[in-house]
Amino acid sequence: MNGLDDVIAADTVLSDADGQAGTLVIRGHSLDELAGRSTYEDVLALLWDGLFEDAPDRLALPALLGEARMDAYAYVVRADAQWIRRDPVEALRVLLARMEDGEDLATALRLVAGTAVFTAAVLRLRRSLDPTAPDPRARHSADLLRMFYGESPTPAQTAALDRYLVTVSDHGLNASTFAARVVASTRAGLASSAIAALSALKGPLHGGAPGPVLDCLDGVGRPERARSWLQDKLARGERLMGFGHRIYRVRDPRADSVKAALQGLIRGGQVDAARLRLAEAVEQAALPLLALKKPDRPLQTNVEFYTALLLEALKFPREAFTCVFAVGRVGGWIAHAREQIAGGRLIRPRSRYVGPPPSPPHSATPERIAG
Ligand code: ACO
Repeated sequence: MNGLDDVIAADTVLSDADGQAGTLVIRGHSLDELAGRSTYEDVLALLWDGLFEDAPDRLALPALLGEARMDAYAYVVRADAQWIRRDPVEALRVLLARMEDGEDLATALRLVAGTAVFTAAVLRLRRSLDPTAPDPRARHSADLLRMFYGESPTPAQTAALDRYLVTVSDHGLNASTFAARVVASTRAGLASSAIAALSALKGPLHGGAPGPVLDCLDGVGRPERARSWLQDKLARGERLMGFGHRIYRVRDPRADSVKAALQGLIRGGQVDAARLRLAEAVEQAALPLLALKKPDRPLQTNVEFYTALLLEALKFPREAFTCVFAVGRVGGWIAHAREQIAGGRLIRPRSRYVGPPPSPPHSATPERIAG
């Protein structure tokens, strides 16, 4: 009850995760159809279609997004050292909060652009490197990598990140998207919605999981230690990051999509094959242990498990993984916020009061209330 399981809180045309079949549909297209075949810009155009009066099509969107990255870069110059050392998600949140709010397409583009530009800039500033200016003609995924690396990525790196961004672009009413819709329903604006969503994404039970997945791989160290290490972790009552999902009772389809992106990098010689073997050993050990622990509750691999390896292979530091997730998901948050504004009412559920009844009037003195 207190997790709102199975409560339908919105009608949406945007995406549908089928937890029994293990499928994800984004605006009438299966994830398999989109991932690896469409760019992030294509999927953004698909998600936003009809939700703005002036929604750009897939041919017009890349240039508009490129311009928006240039606009967003102006905010980086004002970055100060005080918060740049904090958690990258917090730094990203500060920069996003500096941009004007609104409900229009320009605000939406600025938010998508800003999430990528600020992520790259924050990562460079944390290493005492100057931020790299965007290239408005580049693909969004390529430009994020270029701004972060300070040089052009390889085609394999761009393809892998693009596939990842498409894979995580939208996913029904997950916690961050719900937060976005709640804020949008008050008509606070798209920036407010995206910042609320980012704050929800930050948690380790949602988009904060992949960093801890790598901590787990480091802790296991060697494939033959996987079972005993994971067993000890579960015995301490801890959760295995990268496993389990509220909706999926079978394997999360995004896990395989992200693993396919990783395999593209392996073919290009850009992933340490031993790291992948270790991850596969951890996965193979974890699944039966979880089945033993919760026989009535299928706990399968979720998207975050292979995300951790992919983002590590793309050289992102683990503390920035949630920011990269946000680079993909921000397009979905905005689509949901616009859908909510267009057709939804203020979201205002009720709570059931289970506290004590009020004291009788004669005993409610200020002293007693304060005590
Ligand atoms: N490891 C160990 N036990 C688990 C795990 C796990 N990964 N996931 C769930 N469980 C157990 C819980 O301890 C709980 O046991 P209990 O009934 O004895 O208390 C039971 O399974 C049900 O757990 P809930 O938290 O009620 O299930 P929920 O549907 O809320 O869980 C969640 C979903 C939060 C993702 C959970 O599986 C989890 O914590 N996984 C690890 C974190 C993670 O990988 N998050 C990323 C999710 S994907 C994403 O958000 C993009």
